[in-house]
Amino acid sequence: MSETRLCALNDIPAEGTNGFVTEINGQAKAVFAARQGDQVYVYENVCPHLDTPMDVIPGEFLNDDGTHIECGTHLAQFRIADGYCTEGPCEGDSLIKINAEIRGEDVYIIAT
Ligand code: FES
Repeated sequence: MSETRLCALNDIPAEGTNGFVTEINGQAKAVFAARQGDQVYVYENVCPHLDTPMDVIPGEFLNDDGTHIECGTHLAQFRIADGYCTEGPCEGDSLIKINAEIRGEDVYIIAT
């Protein structure tokens, strides 16, 4: 098991998202974090539809209402809390979730 500091909690807007490149088990990975108050959800930055990055505008991963994660390419909608696709060309698929936790003022990735 390895732990890596991803970012400061304040690098993610309180009800928003941000993208990062981090190292997981020795490999560089593009990920993004969605924050909902005192909860942070981290996913690989890959759409299960075409394996493309989720953000067309860097760092923007939510739909206009802020209710779902949105792929900027074909607008697939994913639940923030578990990454399940509820609408779009990859409906029924899920984003790849990464274990993360908030410790004090920082966000850590816990890789197993
Ligand atoms: S590449 Fe994400 S919905 Fe098509």
